[in-house]
Amino acid sequence: PKLNEFIVALPKAELHLHIEGTLEPELIFELARRNNIKLNYASEGELRRAYAFKDLQSFLDLYYAGASVLITERDFYDMTMAYLKRAQADGVCHTEIMFDPQTHTERGVAIETVFAGIARAVREMQQQAGLTSYLLMSFLRHLSEESAFETLEAALPLREQYKDIWVGIGLDSAEVGNPPDKFQRVFTRCKELGFRLVAHAGEEGPPQYVRDALDLLHVDRIDHGVRSEEDPDLVKRLIREQIPLTVCPLSNLKLCVVDDMQDHNIARLLRQGLVVTVNSDDPAYFGGYVGDNYRAIATSLKLSKAELAKLADNSLVASFLPGYRKNQLR
Ligand code: ADE
Ligand code: ZN
Repeated sequence: PKLNEFIVALPKAELHLHIEGTLEPELIFELARRNNIKLNYASEGELRRAYAFKDLQSFLDLYYAGASVLITERDFYDMTMAYLKRAQADGVCHTEIMFDPQTHTERGVAIETVFAGIARAVREMQQQAGLTSYLLMSFLRHLSEESAFETLEAALPLREQYKDIWVGIGLDSAEVGNPPDKFQRVFTRCKELGFRLVAHAGEEGPPQYVRDALDLLHVDRIDHGVRSEEDPDLVKRLIREQIPLTVCPLSNLKLCVVDDMQDHNIARLLRQGLVVTVNSDDPAYFGGYVGDNYRAIATSLKLSKAELAKLADNSLVASFLPGYRKNQLR
């Protein structure tokens, strides 16, 4: 209880969060009923019991199936509002939310609907509770670069309308076999347009994908990045250039990126001077929100209060909020 109070009280941001990964089974069933969609599971309990993943792809299959209940603006609003209330309860003061428009436009949902529902919840929480959020529109890397360009073109007319919150671009979905260079041109275009850039790298993929995300995509942060540890020169570079890693401990455990939380490398990376942060990734699927992630590593890795405070501080420094300076050497 005292550890929990300490963690909740830490000022912190959540920087690695897929909004579609916050859909709890209860909300999936409610939206399925509302939209007359038939699910392959008889009950919420049965769905939850299917959340036993062996790798990233086995999770992604269920994640995309779950997202298929999202149809209307109100669905996107309800999902986002439910997440923001959970984040607020964990003492989060700022979030940077990824969303995957291609998951929805492929099913015939207009990209305008996706933006509108998410943005309405974000703006309402900002006004009512002072919790700020930015949006990172993310491309699915198992799809083509052409599809990413089409998504960018479809979204750009909305940029003015959402310029206060839509600050960046991300890259997610199946990593191995879909390396950063596949998206080099579309990321170059996004950078020219003035977006902040992030990409998943070094979750299941090798350290070379982390290097390529930095050198070819010019990202500001690496999502996950835990496999960087296998390459000591890369680790030195991440320290020297103070490139943030948005680490997701419970996700890594559930997707078998690590076998035991006591073996997670976030403490080693932190103690070497990397800008590591703690995040929930897809909390409805991985057994916990950001506070649960802090608690899990605090206990399993015996982190001190000073270390927990450093992780929280890193999340503000690594955020795209103006006014938190990182040691900019790049
Ligand atoms: N999409 C949602 N969660 C993801 C993860 N952990 N890795 C890659 N793509 C994702
Ligand atoms: Zn992720």
